[in-house]
Amino acid sequence: MAMPIVDTDYLKEIDKARRDLRALISIKNCAPIMLRLAWHDAGTYDVNTKTGGPNGSIRNEEEYSHGSNNGLKIAIDFCEEVKSKHPKISYADLYQLAGVVAVEITGGPTIDFVPGRKDSKISPKEGRLPNATKGVPHLRDIFYRMGLSDKDIVALSGGHTLGRAHPERSGFDGLWTKEPLKFDNSYFVELLKGESEGLLQLPTDKALLDDPEFRRYVELYAKEEDAFFRDYAVSHKKLSELGFTPS
Ligand code: HEM
Repeated sequence: MAMPIVDTDYLKEIDKARRDLRALISIKNCAPIMLRLAWHDAGTYDVNTKTGGPNGSIRNEEEYSHGSNNGLKIAIDFCEEVKSKHPKISYADLYQLAGVVAVEITGGPTIDFVPGRKDSKISPKEGRLPNATKGVPHLRDIFYRMGLSDKDIVALSGGHTLGRAHPERSGFDGLWTKEPLKFDNSYFVELLKGESEGLLQLPTDKALLDDPEFRRYVELYAKEEDAFFRDYAVSHKKLSELGFTPS
């Protein structure tokens, strides 16, 4: 698909799709996996080669079959229900809109959404998304390659306030917080408490405590939910626009 032309008509369709996504996500309680879909489509971006990024390529079987995308076909299929009603909208826009709506309807911050992303049929090679068994240097390698910062790493990790890990998908099991359908700062509160009450902490979550620069933000976000919401909204928008220059 060529660059979608963002005219009045396109904006109207975006508005309708937003409403359809709100209904679909609340009926199916699927905010976590929709957020994860948006993140995994965007998180392949390479700032040096300008490849990957939020371009809808995760809809290709080649890419959703990557090990790190296990389970995301479910979210792709949910989005297809909306796409069939609003075929003009690019997959790239649709997936990022789903991520924004998922955060919004679970009580998180409002994230500015700018449409106009172009779809790509080219999928990046496997291995661009973070590996949950690794530590601080790996997190920096992966997120700096996207062109993101230390603050973005910590703020975006707060996405784990939603959802859970499924043993059959990732090999990990459990929830990060006690209310996995509520977007709040409890991920950081639980992280600082250390391992407790059967909640999940991935090695990459715990790594946020190991590095002084990361830890500074963890402590801030645990103490001040407003600071988390403000920074999260900025970082999420950056993630959703990697390699995209709104026209
Ligand atoms: C789930 C890893 C960053 C949002 C997961 C799971 C893993 C993981 C292993 C479990 C998948 C499953 O078994 O279903 C990581 C690593 C990250 C990272 C290593 C590096 C920092 C992020 C970011 C976001 C995010 C930046 C969004 C802003 C989610 C959500 C779920 C999830 C919402 C729950 C999905 C569900 O309930 O089905 N992540 N993640 N993650 N991740 Fe991350």
